[in-house]
Amino acid sequence: MHKTPRDIIAKKITGKKISVITAYDYSLASLCDRAGVDVLLVGDSGGMVMLGYENTIPVTMEQMELFTEAVSRARQNALIVGDLPFMSYQANVSDAITNSGRLIKAGADAVKLEGGQEMVHTIKAIVETGIPVMGHIGLQPQTTMLSQGYRVQGRTKDAAIKLIEDAKALEKAGVFSIALEMVSHEVAKIISESINIPTIGIGSGKNCDGQVLVIHDMLGMYDKLKPKFVKRYLSLSIDITRAVESYRKDVESGRFPAKENWFSMDASELEKLRDEVG
Ligand code: KIV
Repeated sequence: MHKTPRDIIAKKITGKKISVITAYDYSLASLCDRAGVDVLLVGDSGGMVMLGYENTIPVTMEQMELFTEAVSRARQNALIVGDLPFMSYQANVSDAITNSGRLIKAGADAVKLEGGQEMVHTIKAIVETGIPVMGHIGLQPQTTMLSQGYRVQGRTKDAAIKLIEDAKALEKAGVFSIALEMVSHEVAKIISESINIPTIGIGSGKNCDGQVLVIHDMLGMYDKLKPKFVKRYLSLSIDITRAVESYRKDVESGRFPAKENWFSMDASELEKLRDEVG
């Protein structure tokens, strides 16, 4: 049986940190699940790292469904959270419920959406249908990023109070956890101590109840952005480029394929074939 939102909340109660990683495809999702992470987040960041968009705005429901289906085929233990893409939930509650349902049908156990107090009505409606929701405040790539760029949120007293109120409003609306993106670590700590559901930080310091990273960032596979908050565990872009270069050179020089990489006919059948075709 895989993890549930209740298990994620229980980790906060027992003081255990929550590990979340993004996943968009079968192979990497299998490895992340095997590594024992608590949550596989099918983030709309997939639009950037998998599809090459400049930002998450162009991501569609169909793309998120495809990513979610692939991840759900790989999952054994982790909870799967599917990100609702830009304009799949903002226009009206009916869209929000329908599109949340589409991600659940694609294999997600819960959905995530961006926004604070202005999203309370929508969140309540989704939760009332029985679909668990993860909130997302601080830097919201679908909106804040467009107007302000990548910048730390909650650095002034007023901005901090707004974030704390947003977090409390989301908890009251029924979310089971809240992603805090690029929130100053002091404010992330206050929020984490003021609510009973877990906070999952990305660039928001160590006092969040859990952490999330984009898998391509932590494996060093995505070179376009290098945010300060990312810890790189591998440098796969260098390793993969070197490996493919070696393959190209082997093909060009005839070193690949070698005998162990090809298949042979039965000798007597080959003899007969030669007799026939000359
Ligand atoms: O899309 C995503 O990967 C996210 C995380 C960065 C929280 O929303």
